[in-house]
Amino acid sequence: MPGVFESLQAEIETIQPTRAVGRVAESSRGTFLVRGLAEAALGDRVAAETGAGPLGGEIVQMSSRGAIVLPEDDPEGLGINARVELIGPVTLAPDRSWLGRIVDPLGRPLDGRPLLPGTERTSMNAPPPAPADRRPLGERLSTGVAVFDTLLPLVRGQRIGLFAGSGVGKSSLLAKFARGVAADVVVIGLVGERGRELRDFTDRVLGPAGMARSVVVTATSDQSPLMRRRCALSAMTVAEHFRNQGLHVLLLLDSVTRFAEAHREVALASGEKASLRGYPPSVSHAIMALAERAGPGAGETGDITAVFTVLVAGSDMEEPVADIVRGTLDGHVVLDRKIAERGRYPAIDLLRSVSRSLPEAASSAENGLIADARRVLSAYDRAEMMIQAGLYVSGSDHAIDRSIRLFPVLDGFLAEDAPAGGPEASFVRLRACLGA
Ligand SMILES: Nc1ncnc2c1ncn2[C@@H]1O[C@H](COP(=O)(O)OP(=O)(O)O)[C@@H](O)[C@H]1O
Ligand SMILES: [Mg+2]
Repeated sequence: MPGVFESLQAEIETIQPTRAVGRVAESSRGTFLVRGLAEAALGDRVAAETGAGPLGGEIVQMSSRGAIVLPEDDPEGLGINARVELIGPVTLAPDRSWLGRIVDPLGRPLDGRPLLPGTERTSMNAPPPAPADRRPLGERLSTGVAVFDTLLPLVRGQRIGLFAGSGVGKSSLLAKFARGVAADVVVIGLVGERGRELRDFTDRVLGPAGMARSVVVTATSDQSPLMRRRCALSAMTVAEHFRNQGLHVLLLLDSVTRFAEAHREVALASGEKASLRGYPPSVSHAIMALAERAGPGAGETGDITAVFTVLVAGSDMEEPVADIVRGTLDGHVVLDRKIAERGRYPAIDLLRSVSRSLPEAASSAENGLIADARRVLSAYDRAEMMIQAGLYVSGSDHAIDRSIRLFPVLDGFLAEDAPAGGPEASFVRLRACLGA
């Protein structure tokens, strides 16, 4: 942790003695035009003077007439000819002292206590490590959840998608990961939640145990699309900061859907046209570029293991964001409302979920157990309607008879916390459930 003096000195070094200044020339449909910022670049941050204090914004379009700025806040009180200072690229200076804290996308504390920035500012749009230099996926992680220790393994540097409707248990599962996955640091990005949900998540669901090793970056639903979009980029930047120190980071981003929606609003305001079912074409690039920054590191750096949640209405996995995420990541986990309704949490629909770290992540004996568990669940799934309607005659199909016998135990296993002893112990438990 840097001393107060080093932090202040680093801050002072970022202060530019002279700043480019422009003037507001026009304002329309949520954006304003600034003239006179000759050195400005696309994506730069500016601050405009208003009657209500400085108003931040980002340059989203440039033309010979000037720079078009999308404000970070309600532009109320912004007048024609108002002074606009160029701040430069959007950066963040994360620090180890941020552990246990809640910050906004610009690194300002949201928990009422002072917070110092770190000594190094980095761009919020850092490139991913060069593909050729990156390590392959790493070793299997102990996750604290039996099913993720066994049937859906999570390995170091893996990126998975968690697909679910609202209220099906995404936040609760993320909190379990924050407390239980073997990692040095956890970074949690919460995009577009309501303020009340945020407090409930940090205070109750995540709790002090989860909070202690986490940095929470958040932009609530009432904030501008710019801040909501930055929230995901900012959480990624914090994760990269720890990864660059050689640490293993668990990044939990809830949700990519809200990030994509914020991106859509920003893109439409910058003049892009909607196409992909209401999303602008740049949305796929935005999601893929974000996901690509997570994953295994290169050289002396650590890894970012990541879970990205996707909101799906019903079971519409073809919806654009779900489709892009599914094709980009190393696995997807589907939470099912019907399973949640019967009270089995986490409500994982195992047959529709896959971890692409298999088969390498497990031994051949373990892969055998995984295949057997899937066969049993699949046999039960195919026969379930008949069984419940009383149409199945016991003894007519050996595989179905076995699935009826094993289903309650196996279904229970899917809800279990992992035993102490990590994945090996979880597999011992799975073998017992299968009666093998
Ligand atoms: N592990 C669990 N055990 C019991 N109930 C749960 C569990 N996970 C979720 N729930 C129930 O589901 C509700 C919604 O969960 P939450 O994680 O907030 O869903 P989401 O983030 O998908 O909207 C919770 O308020 C709780 O009632
Ligand atoms: Mg939630």
